[in-house]
Amino acid sequence: MSRQFFVGGNFKMNPATQEQKRSLVKVLNEATIDPSVEVVLAPPAIYLLTLKEILRKEIKIAAQNCYVKASGAFTGEISPAQLVDADIPYVVLGHSERRTLFHETSALVAQKTRVAIDTGLSVILCVGETLEEREAGRTAQVVEEQLKPVIELLTPKDWSKVVIAYEPVWAIGTGKVATSAQAQEAHANIRSFLGKAVSAAVAESTRIIYGGSVTASNCKELATQPDVDGFLVGGASLKPEFVDIINAKK
Ligand code: G3P
Repeated sequence: MSRQFFVGGNFKMNPATQEQKRSLVKVLNEATIDPSVEVVLAPPAIYLLTLKEILRKEIKIAAQNCYVKASGAFTGEISPAQLVDADIPYVVLGHSERRTLFHETSALVAQKTRVAIDTGLSVILCVGETLEEREAGRTAQVVEEQLKPVIELLTPKDWSKVVIAYEPVWAIGTGKVATSAQAQEAHANIRSFLGKAVSAAVAESTRIIYGGSVTASNCKELATQPDVDGFLVGGASLKPEFVDIINAKK
């Protein structure tokens, strides 16, 4: 089975101004984009609806987070039910910034994934090791520990709603991209783990994308790897080079 190449842009808490947002949209709307790629932008919550309106329709929108309950008295949180009602198809969950800065455990990320899928969202599920964990030879183990609680809460069918983003923490925002061999090894390990812990069919069909200092100059080489099914891009998604990353397979 062939997996559709997936490129996500995670704007994080950017852009700072409406003007920057408008110029990014202009670039994306006017660009020639490979129609075989699934492109998803994750802007800050305040821009979700406007971006959905003004972006070309082939580009989908994702929230960067949502709460573990569908709705209710949870001041300041993002409701998965409201995202679905607003036709926002994706949510990013388990980003390392949420795990580290906002103390989200793998158990909470798994519960959020369950609720998001039950509510009707698809999930970009982020996992990845720190430099210390990599240097201790624990990369595969750490990633498996992050995936296990999710595997426990999902049925095999639910995995069609999940894209796994392998984002080594040491590569995020550092300019230190994983080599294509490092990315391929981690992705192959994740796929083999899915095969053992879920099913061969889920392992084969689930997209595993890479995130961490992806740029126009390193994306083509990474995209040649058989288990790299796309990218989750931070900093470079705010620049015109994001178009080259979307077109990495061309
Ligand atoms: O979610 C994408 C991200 O964490 C990678 O960020 O800036 O290293 O591309 P960046």
